[in-house]
Amino acid sequence: MIKSALVTGGSGTLGQAVIQLLHSYNFKVISVGRNKPFAVPTGCLHLVCDFLNETDLSRICTEIKQLDPIDCAVFCAGIDSRIGGIDFNPQVFQRAMQVNCIAHLLLLRALREQVRRVKPLRLVVPSSNVLDKTDPNSLVYATSKIALEEGIRCFVAEDANTMSALILRLPFLGVLMAELAESNVLIRQQAVLVGYETPQLKEAIVRIEDFLVRDVSEIDTFKIISL
Ligand SMILES: NC(=O)c1ccc[n+]([C@@H]2O[C@H](COP(=O)([O-])OP(=O)(O)OC[C@H]3O[C@@H](n4cnc5c(N)ncnc54)[C@H](OP(=O)(O)O)[C@@H]3O)[C@@H](O)[C@H]2O)c1
Repeated sequence: MIKSALVTGGSGTLGQAVIQLLHSYNFKVISVGRNKPFAVPTGCLHLVCDFLNETDLSRICTEIKQLDPIDCAVFCAGIDSRIGGIDFNPQVFQRAMQVNCIAHLLLLRALREQVRRVKPLRLVVPSSNVLDKTDPNSLVYATSKIALEEGIRCFVAEDANTMSALILRLPFLGVLMAELAESNVLIRQQAVLVGYETPQLKEAIVRIEDFLVRDVSEIDTFKIISL
């Protein structure tokens, strides 16, 4: 039977690699984000959504609830921020929280409200190893990521029979994230790189593959792995 997977950040470095992986296993991909993934696989549904726009988000959540239950989700969307305590800025914080955390929790709520079959939703959440090593300039980014991790943990605790989650705390992937929230503005750091491969990115993909294609019985309900 064809499985389906919802991917956020499918136009980004990690998201594109995840979509390729899912495509190689014949998943039907539902991508959510402002831009389409670069190479849209056949049968991929792209739902246009700016996570900073509440109207967009609520429309997309309604659409998701109406789709057939989705088997997997991989939450790759995110923005970086290099702000520490001295430069702490509530507007930057709100943007990072909205994209990195709140939008994903809303999507997860919509996925949870789909009529669930016996098998659980498998969720992969790329997080960051800044949570293990406390980089002083990552106050905003790290806080938004730990809030997301904790939110996912609470969802799973409420719903262990219908959801299992893998949090992957990734190291620097060898390519900067495209967008940076700094002093009131979003800065585009670079154009999106297509087909970029580093050992760290490859390892992340292997872990995601392992989790998504293994038997449900072997999967822990909630797991955090630092790479
Ligand atoms: N790169 C690294 O070294 C690194 C290290 C550790 C952890 N991570 C984590 O890994 C994940 C993927 O990182 P990456 O390097 O692939 O990032 P990336 O290339 O910058 O991609 C980020 C994605 O987020 C989406 N996004 C940004 N703002 C959005 C918004 N307002 N609404 C909807 N989507 C939005 C972008 O899509 P659109 O522009 O199309 O909307 C893009 O596809 C992130 O969660 C990041 O925190 C990355």
